Amino acid sequence: MNLIYQAASLLKDGQLVALPTETVYGLAGDALNIEAVKSIFEVKGRPLIDPLIVHVHSLEMAEQLAYFDEKALKLAEQFWPGPLTLVLPRQAIVPDLVTAGLETVAIRMPRHPMFRAVLEVSGLALACPSANPFGYCSPTRAEHVAGTLGDEIPMILDGGPCEIGLESTILYLGDGSGARILRQGPILAEEIGKVLGFGVEVVGRAVVKKDEAQMSPGMLEKHYSPSTPVRLFAYGEAVLSLGEGAAIVFQKKPDLGLMEERYPGVAIFWLSESGELGEVAHNLFHLMQVLDKGGYVSIAIEKAPGDGLGFAINDRLSRAAAK
Ligand code: TXA
Ligand code: MG
Repeated sequence: MNLIYQAASLLKDGQLVALPTETVYGLAGDALNIEAVKSIFEVKGRPLIDPLIVHVHSLEMAEQLAYFDEKALKLAEQFWPGPLTLVLPRQAIVPDLVTAGLETVAIRMPRHPMFRAVLEVSGLALACPSANPFGYCSPTRAEHVAGTLGDEIPMILDGGPCEIGLESTILYLGDGSGARILRQGPILAEEIGKVLGFGVEVVGRAVVKKDEAQMSPGMLEKHYSPSTPVRLFAYGEAVLSLGEGAAIVFQKKPDLGLMEERYPGVAIFWLSESGELGEVAHNLFHLMQVLDKGGYVSIAIEKAPGDGLGFAINDRLSRAAAK
């Protein structure tokens, strides 16, 4: 049987399937099937207070799940399918389990052709968090999913490395007033502001402690973390002291001779050849997971410069490094 049909049929049967999106791999289940949604939380070890994003194939399906005002419609028209998640007032049909009891639901229309095909063939709305154990680095290749959740799910659809490598931008439009970014991502605040015609507040950079998670779900201070301790250093300022057995990661390929002299016994890596932020984002979670298996005593990572995609990259890095 064709893999798309096989995935759709498992999902219709209430089972879970890992699927590629343009951002990261997701762990999908039928959003309207309580048992399926429950097993998403179980497989990930995710607390029930952390709500899920529902993925849809069409605006028509999205409008059955949430109330779209004019702002939401404009943004959907401009950015969907693509890496923007909208948090909107929910319709009654959405299970409480999906929204963690909130009056809003997060919705996104992914653009990855395999994911879109599964949505279309199954006809389902799919609840789909990133396909990693709760708190660990997001998966950007099928092998990342196989290495962590592989034994617990019947199928992983392999679409190769994810194009973007960072999770979608999450925009809160839940209370009719303004627009707030809860998680920075590939769609930038400026781009959203341009479409809406007013400035968009970024609240996602704030971090919250565990006991405040219900208020601002998914904004936990520690997240995306390898098991190896991570520390960060400022862009262009490789002046830290590192002991033998550590790894150091630069944004762009450094002068290797100089760095080997400065950091004897330290393994040297880089996230891009030229410092291009799209390339950094694409490689970030993969390199973190490779290094996590490398037996290093610690990993020092250079922060991205603070513009464009750099904000989303630094958000992931600072959570990965949080104690
Ligand atoms: O790119 C993505 O968005 C990926 C791919 C698989 O689509 N998905 C993803 O899902 O990153 P997840 O579950 O790892 O992150 C979703 C975030 C969580 O931090 C959650 O707290 C937040 O979205 N969220 C979901 N529903 C919400 C709501 N109603 N209000 C506020 N935040 C919400
Ligand atoms: Mg996640």
